Amino acid sequence: MNTLPVVDLRSDTVTRPTAAMRRVIAEAVVGDDVFGDDPTVIELEKRCAAIAGKEAALFVASGTMGNQLAVNALTTPGDQVLLESESHIFLYEQGGIAANSGCLAHVVPGSRGQLPANALGAAIRSAEDDHVARISLICTENTHNRAGGAIVPLESLRALAADAHARGVRVHLDGARLWNASVASGVPIADWTATADTAMLCFSKALGAPVGSILVGDAATVRRARRTRKRWGGGMRQVGILAAACLHALDHHVERLAIDHARARLLAAGMRMPGVSVIEPETNIVIATLASPEAVPTVLEKLKAQGVWMVAFGPGRIRAICHLDTNDEAIERAMEAFQLAVTE
Ligand SMILES: Cc1ncc(COP(=O)(O)O)c(C=O)c1O
Repeated sequence: MNTLPVVDLRSDTVTRPTAAMRRVIAEAVVGDDVFGDDPTVIELEKRCAAIAGKEAALFVASGTMGNQLAVNALTTPGDQVLLESESHIFLYEQGGIAANSGCLAHVVPGSRGQLPANALGAAIRSAEDDHVARISLICTENTHNRAGGAIVPLESLRALAADAHARGVRVHLDGARLWNASVASGVPIADWTATADTAMLCFSKALGAPVGSILVGDAATVRRARRTRKRWGGGMRQVGILAAACLHALDHHVERLAIDHARARLLAAGMRMPGVSVIEPETNIVIATLASPEAVPTVLEKLKAQGVWMVAFGPGRIRAICHLDTNDEAIERAMEAFQLAVTE
């Protein structure tokens, strides 16, 4: 039986708070954030608004809550939201835009997460036609999870936003892993968020905080989202203990993402073998596609027996993510385990 520690590459959400992060959590100065007087939350929101070049920010429990609040704040029931067909908001938020905001999803297939330049032009109908649901919002995603952590090019996001704004359509950016896009590309967060009216960024993924995401945007939109957050039961009280972890992550866990990206490239190289194709990772996500899709469950079982955890990610696809709790030794073990699992 394998007695080595588990190498958990299922997601970058599996990280546990470091000892230093646990210390700042213990020492956090807190207030009641529903009354608006938790100083640590206020500090985090101010800092994130400044990083993103937006007027305001709202600390929320999860990426899903941040995305859903943005859709809710920027639409009216009966509107259409244009989404890339493999986006998280469309695939993995339980139809939330319909259930929470009464919106219809208009999905358009992209290429490595990138919507076609004419996506909106091809979809939009005359606002004068009383039969049609108006498109009021486009959601983009960067990095793109299903596309294997691909960085959607800045120029394409800029062009999409210019087209949207010229037509009176708003833009929300799902930036759960925007930190990774920024570190890998060298393009500051504010340049990416400038392509959107609102953006959501997660602390609980690559940055290694236990909980928390931030929604940034103009003051009126964020105010609206703050009210809805309360209605949805997301008003939290002495939540400075979590905001402190996020501030710590901003100070200590952003630049190091380059290490995760290098490890992902190493892991990808080690998983590339006959019968397995692996896209070159742009950030921290590795996607391997097996020539025999039916082999995925067996390969995952064999990996697990060797103490290496990855996940199935669509037909024939296996996903592994490098994160704060992986090290070089873990990556070596994962490569060897994968080669054995595929060949034996
Ligand atoms: C691209 C993207 N957006 C949003 C989310 C949702 O984040 P959460 O799990 O915090 O709700 C995820 C989660 O994996 C994600 O990958």
